[in-house]
Amino acid sequence: MLRKTLVIASLFQAATFFSQQYGGMWIPTEINEKEMKSLGMKIEAKDIWNTEKPSIKDAVVQFNRGCTGEIISPKGLLLTNHHCGYSAIQSHSTVENDLLSNGFWAKNNQGELTNPGMVVDFVTDIKDVTSEILANTSGLTDKELNKKIEENIAEYRKSQKLENYQSILVKSMFAGNKYYAFTVETFKDIRLVGAPPQSIGKFGSDTDNWVWPRHTGDFSIFRVYADKNNKPAEYSPENVPFTPKHYLPISVKDIKENDFTFVFGFPGRTNEYLPSIAIEKIVTDTNPARIEVRDIALKTLDEKMRADDATRIKYASKYASVANYWKKWIGETKGLKKSNAVVKKQEYETFLASKNPEIKNTLAEFNSLYNQQAPYALNNAYYTEVLRNAETLTLANLFNGFINSYEAGKIDDRAVKNFKNRLSGIYKDYDGELDAKVMAKLLALYTNKTQAEFLPEGFNQYKDVNQNLQVFENWSKNSVISGRNSINGATVYTDIDKVFSNLPELVKTIKADPIYQTLTKMKETYIAKADSQYSTLQDKIDALQKKYLAQMMTADQDRKFFPDANSTLRVTYGKVKGSTPQDAITYHYETTLDGAIEKYVPGDYEFDLPKKLIELYNNKDYGTYKNAAGKIPLAFTATNHTTGGNSGSPALDANGNLIGLNFDRQWEGTMSDINYDPKFSRNIMVQTKYILFIIDKFANAKWLLDEMKIVK
Ligand code: ARG
Ligand code: GLU
Repeated sequence: MLRKTLVIASLFQAATFFSQQYGGMWIPTEINEKEMKSLGMKIEAKDIWNTEKPSIKDAVVQFNRGCTGEIISPKGLLLTNHHCGYSAIQSHSTVENDLLSNGFWAKNNQGELTNPGMVVDFVTDIKDVTSEILANTSGLTDKELNKKIEENIAEYRKSQKLENYQSILVKSMFAGNKYYAFTVETFKDIRLVGAPPQSIGKFGSDTDNWVWPRHTGDFSIFRVYADKNNKPAEYSPENVPFTPKHYLPISVKDIKENDFTFVFGFPGRTNEYLPSIAIEKIVTDTNPARIEVRDIALKTLDEKMRADDATRIKYASKYASVANYWKKWIGETKGLKKSNAVVKKQEYETFLASKNPEIKNTLAEFNSLYNQQAPYALNNAYYTEVLRNAETLTLANLFNGFINSYEAGKIDDRAVKNFKNRLSGIYKDYDGELDAKVMAKLLALYTNKTQAEFLPEGFNQYKDVNQNLQVFENWSKNSVISGRNSINGATVYTDIDKVFSNLPELVKTIKADPIYQTLTKMKETYIAKADSQYSTLQDKIDALQKKYLAQMMTADQDRKFFPDANSTLRVTYGKVKGSTPQDAITYHYETTLDGAIEKYVPGDYEFDLPKKLIELYNNKDYGTYKNAAGKIPLAFTATNHTTGGNSGSPALDANGNLIGLNFDRQWEGTMSDINYDPKFSRNIMVQTKYILFIIDKFANAKWLLDEMKIVK
């Protein structure tokens, strides 16, 4: 009796928790039109994705391989987040001409700024190629299987006729149970057109990051350029603004709670189908380790960034990106605990096993594999985070790769040139003296947190932070790697060519550098003791995940499955909604400019506001952008299932008009990458009304508004 109720209870739970109204990132060729319409969508699926006629997909791009952007004018004007354009804006900034602080608005096409290396990708076709990619693979062992799949992918790509600006991406879906091919067109001449000052575009900065209520005008504007035939081309002054097949009309209608909305973009990575044991390990082991490392790095950087403007600009983009996932992991861990994710998954597992007893074995195998992997996974988490955040070690590691190739006789002039370019990119925003402190503290952490069996010989001497601070400062001061010492009379800052002019001597010097020696010791020990064990177990886990997901999909026929995010184009939909994340706390779905003024702290590094904006507010100079209540709407939340990579994604209304720009999720729901919970999970968007208000009233950039199609 009890058992029966349990099964029924979990059946019910499975059905409600995974009902499609909430959660899901769908491949645009396979969206649930019926449900979208039942939620209020007025357009057709073929208005969203169509390879025969212009459709919304022709206006959605992957922005610089990490964010999303959308085309909002017939002249290739592109909207994305401020934080997505951030490093470009930073790269045009100096202490004297600080576009981060002052904002930037081109007066005309000639005033737009070029961004070498920046790309924008359009997806022009999507095909299910599972049968091609999995051809002749049955009965193969895991290793053979992966090799065969790679061969099939290579063959498939070769079989496709492409222009030089096109490429084919073949991506695995459902943990390798399916494969899809994406045809992509890459544009390479992308220019900066406009950005508000960061006191608008990054208002609230790290304190407000991942937090609702939010008042960030997180947008920036670029333009896609093409050659005379409207095709992608390298930068050239002869290039012309790109004419898109479709661009998004922009709505300035008021947004109401429960309005239908969908988000179209490139979510990066989710893990919605993990077994409970995997979530347990994330909560207890790997997230806390990663958080701890970044905690220390961030505090150390912050001190100097606040004290010194040049350091602030130099480290701004890097700091924001380190802080971003640091804060996300904290929210995710809390959310997983609070939403009882492990218990919920266990209940779901019981339900699955009741449908197919074999799933019990799969789960037992998962338990065994994850438990075996745990110590290696923990070491991996500390190791990778320390190496990433102590940049002198990152640099030493790059030198290590270079020296290994050099000693294997694999370094030619071209390789030296590439390596120098790579280094210069890092040194530009690096401060050796500051990083010596980060390195000293992180090595103390690593030494104190690493189990004896994984600790390099002699590392016990790094247990003491204060002692490390002296030791590493001393080493750093005398190091070519840190850029603070010269070789051949030059440093990497004064003349990097000269540093590399005598390779044998450089190699000898670097190998004698105690920082280099510390890195190689750490790396060799990690590789010998943890790395291959970790990956071998991960391969087994991946193979089992494929089997588990296939079993899950047959056992749970009522659930509609979407493939985990993998940086491919997806549609997610839902309703505009507030939430009740805590006892007695209810969040309204919308913020207004009034709230930004409430948060305003003059001169603060996070909550300052531009004078002009305050004047507009005081004079209620709102033009056509105010809502029915006479206020400027600023941001809003909805139930769209989004993740990193969805930044800059268009939020569209029932008619396919742009109503907002996705830029974040709310703190209480950041566990949605692992366990989307309709109660807590909300995406955060900045409203088009606010964006247009800023462009129009704040920046006076009317020439841009004239290009757009505004729906009143
Ligand atoms: N949390 C948002 C995202 O994941 C915004 C990040 C940029 N802002 C920041 N303060 N770090 O990308
Ligand atoms: N800010 C994120 C991004 O850069 C989007 C927020 C999220 O992770 O949902 O993609």
